[in-house]
Amino acid sequence: EKGGYDYFMLKEIAEQPKAVADTLLGRIGADGQLTLDELRISDAQLRQVDKVVIVACGTAFHAGMIAKYAIEHWTRIPCEVEVASEFRYRDPILDDRTLVIAISQSGETMDTLMALRHAREQGAKVLAICNTNGSTIPRESDAVLYTHAGPEVAVASTKAFLTQLVACYLVSLYLGQVRGTKWDRETFGVIELLGHAPHQVEQVLRTMEPVRELARSLADAHAVLFLGRHVGYPVALEGALKLKELAYMHAEGFAAGELKHGPIALIEHGLPVVIVVPSPRGRAVLHDKIVSNIQEIRARGARTIVIAEEGDEAVAPYADHLIRIPATPALLQPLVATVPLQVFACELATAKGHEVDQPRNLAKSVTVE
Ligand code: M6R
Repeated sequence: EKGGYDYFMLKEIAEQPKAVADTLLGRIGADGQLTLDELRISDAQLRQVDKVVIVACGTAFHAGMIAKYAIEHWTRIPCEVEVASEFRYRDPILDDRTLVIAISQSGETMDTLMALRHAREQGAKVLAICNTNGSTIPRESDAVLYTHAGPEVAVASTKAFLTQLVACYLVSLYLGQVRGTKWDRETFGVIELLGHAPHQVEQVLRTMEPVRELARSLADAHAVLFLGRHVGYPVALEGALKLKELAYMHAEGFAAGELKHGPIALIEHGLPVVIVVPSPRGRAVLHDKIVSNIQEIRARGARTIVIAEEGDEAVAPYADHLIRIPATPALLQPLVATVPLQVFACELATAKGHEVDQPRNLAKSVTVE
């Protein structure tokens, strides 16, 4: 049942190109227009929406953080994202013009379920992005967009995350389509490039041997930091979460711009720091800023593990280890940038002798609040 792999996690990482392709399947028409037929909220209702609120936990929350960038950029609708466990306890402002998006692989996460119940009580419409047919969260929502990742067995979420991203991009683009915002050539280009994602993820998977080797060499490190900016920031958080839950290591993700506000004090000789570098084409200013961050931490002794787009030469001189990912539009980069971090955590944990499918103290589906 593990399909020849030692662990479900390895199998699920390898299944990502197919999971992404299956989630896109049938949703982009030949004319580049999107059809999302399971979305049972009318276009008229979607045109009324004046705020989007995303609730989710753990890895699904990181997908939600990335969705915020896409939604605000493509639709100009204000979007908030919050961990589901905090949501209902702060008396959030919701009404019938609020679209709440609840993201959950299992569809059974109690924190997320309670958040969506609260939202519906306040009159908000809830759209679930979920991987499990007929589970509680989609059953209690106004609409559902299923991710077609197939069953995810390993506790650490991998393929579900990439498909959550795809679903979030589709929802954002659909909102843009029905509202007529950003529905220009650039957006059409993005839809086409989204179609290349399965192939690009496969490309990344084929080049992972050096990442595995690096991970094994770091099995004795006591901490690893992750830095990113823009959508690379949630990717950094996701890389850190994977390492915490699998390798039981101190791992922390930061927005690179925050370094100087405190975390740079943590940098010491030999500390591994993973940096997710934004595309030099799409986000040139951020790219240059992060290159200076890399220089700063390297000057203080950090061992820099740099994830950068193919052809980004400016960053190469400051990378102790350089992991290349294919060029994508800025907002889509998480689809390829996350994969090396999953492989890294899985391999490092295995090298430490941990059971990666069943990390200690964790359950696949967290059905208590
Ligand atoms: O089933 P859900 O997507 O609602 O689960 C949410 C989190 O519990 C889950 O993503 C968790 O953080 C994973 N173990 C992370 O790998």
